[in-house]
Amino acid sequence: MLPAELINLKQSGKPIIILTAWDSISAGLVEEAGADVVLVGDSLSMVVLGHATTLPVTLEQMLHHAQAVGRGLSGLTNDQPIIVCDLPFLSYQCGEDKAVAAAGKLIKNSCTSAVKLEGAEPEVISVIARLVRMGIPVMGHLGLTPQSVHRFGYRRQAEDPQTQEKVYQQALQLEDAGCFALVLEHVPNELSGKLRKNLKIPIIGIGAGENCDGQVRVTADLIGLTKKQPPFSPALIPGREIFIEALQSWVKEQHP
Ligand code: KIV
Repeated sequence: MLPAELINLKQSGKPIIILTAWDSISAGLVEEAGADVVLVGDSLSMVVLGHATTLPVTLEQMLHHAQAVGRGLSGLTNDQPIIVCDLPFLSYQCGEDKAVAAAGKLIKNSCTSAVKLEGAEPEVISVIARLVRMGIPVMGHLGLTPQSVHRFGYRRQAEDPQTQEKVYQQALQLEDAGCFALVLEHVPNELSGKLRKNLKIPIIGIGAGENCDGQVRVTADLIGLTKKQPPFSPALIPGREIFIEALQSWVKEQHP
């Protein structure tokens, strides 16, 4: 499937499922689980590399993980999920040329077929339009944007009518700039519902309620591996406890 064809799922009413992966094992898991899209999210900075925010992860590290994710998929090109990779902090904020070079590096050297970037400031809109013209599909990301943590924090966004209107207008601009889908993170349900209704491109929620065209989750959160669970993404299983108990029993068996 091409990234632009996700719109067909929206039109057919089939929810779009996006799960993150960071290596070949997690990629295989989310493919077998049936994800439409595998996101190599810059959340790997926190979840996998142990940083306090998503800011430190580099383009080279994102590429390294995107390559591993590509190797973990089955290789059945028609059926396998689309790989979308996050452009990390400072890889697209310093001008269009640098952004094209950064996105191009991911596309050229891994199985990534689209990039995701955060925000809708005028500079970001220009970058997105340029990437799309250059043949690089782009997924937008509004609401809680972790790369702007020092400006907006990790709180729920767009709580008042003015900010909701601002996000609504930004979403329209992202669609006009050529984004094929939009992630909306930690915003009120009414806003995601309004955007879902009025935008042609799919609205993919995380902490944005059920009224979206699809959902995205950080896989390590869902399977209970992260130490600090976001309030809007509860674990399905106590993954850490399950693994620790299994390993503890094995260790005990080695010391009878
Ligand atoms: O980096 C990431 O995993 C993300 C998701 C939370 C959407 O951007």
